[in-house]
Amino acid sequence: MSKETKKRKLDHIKVCMEEDVEFDRKTTLLEEVILPKTVPDINLEDVDTSTKFLGKKTAAPIFVNSITGGEERAKKINKDIAAACEKLGLGMALGSQRAMLEDESIVHTYDVTKDYNPAFLLGNIGIAQLEEYSIDELEWLVKKIDGNGLFVHINPAQEAVQPEGDTDFHGLLDKLGEISKKVDYPVIVKQVGEGISRDTAQKLSKMDLYGVDVGGAGGSDWTKIEHLRSEDSYGKTFENWGIPTAQSLIEVQEVFPGGKIMATGGIRNGLDVAKSLALGADVCGMALPVLKAQQKNGEEGVRKLLEDIVEELKIAMFLTDCENIDELRSLEPKLSPKLTSRLK
Ligand SMILES: Cc1cc2nc3c(=O)[nH]c(=O)nc-3n(C[C@H](O)[C@H](O)[C@H](O)COP(=O)(O)O)c2cc1C
Repeated sequence: MSKETKKRKLDHIKVCMEEDVEFDRKTTLLEEVILPKTVPDINLEDVDTSTKFLGKKTAAPIFVNSITGGEERAKKINKDIAAACEKLGLGMALGSQRAMLEDESIVHTYDVTKDYNPAFLLGNIGIAQLEEYSIDELEWLVKKIDGNGLFVHINPAQEAVQPEGDTDFHGLLDKLGEISKKVDYPVIVKQVGEGISRDTAQKLSKMDLYGVDVGGAGGSDWTKIEHLRSEDSYGKTFENWGIPTAQSLIEVQEVFPGGKIMATGGIRNGLDVAKSLALGADVCGMALPVLKAQQKNGEEGVRKLLEDIVEELKIAMFLTDCENIDELRSLEPKLSPKLTSRLK
């Protein structure tokens, strides 16, 4: 791995641990989503949160989103997450595997399936790297970690404010369409907090994608993180850039029929998960709170955090009289005027 890539990865973790890196003038707008309340006719103990994703059974529609890989500190983070996910029957995603393509000797920092068995495992690469690497190399990325699919992250605002960012986006969506047809595993497009708009989702819906992770605004703010990491970044001006997670979820869901939808960006508790599923998400993911829990208490910290979120999801399902995930997904939540006014 280049010295620059290694330093950037460590800086990101350091900034996320030491500073307030979340959106401060924008929320996910999930607080503007109102679930129907009722006196339940079910037993809380019978609520079943299990579902399927990527053809795999997962104990709840919750996964740990991409965080890291590439060096020793990252290896420990990935191992702790994988161990907790195995115990709880949940899935996880790895951080960008670009470093692995640059240097095969660091595969072991990503290779969690050697020792653990999360419900599913997603690899990760940036959209700009689709131009740089061959189909064989991209297939190797997922096979080498025994993964179930690949996240392709699209983060133009973060790249643009990062002094060393990849900013030639010309033709990249076409390239994505071409690659998603050729590779022999499911491809999911992922945002990191800027959200996916209806227009983008319309373009994505014409490709052979397994799904879209909306990665909306309201959680970790990556333009802010770049600014906190480097004085040379234009991130300060673009802080709070992005489409709130709830809005992005509604917009994507309307134009992406049949595709799987992952709700991420500021998901922080089981009620956020329940609301996202009622809006059409298939699964929900979190990154920053998991990193914080892991840094504080290792595998045990991650396990406790995820366990609490699953319990909160169960309570939300009980209070809306939903015994299983299909029932939760067929609820019709009310949207406040603050949220509906943002929808085209
Ligand atoms: C320290 C850290 C490193 C991350 N690295 C990656 C990455 O390599 N690739 C990627 O697609 N997303 C990466 N992310 C973004 C997350 O996967 C997620 O999209 C984003 O942080 C929003 O979710 P959150 O509000 O739950 O943190 C990273 C997040 C954190 C906290």
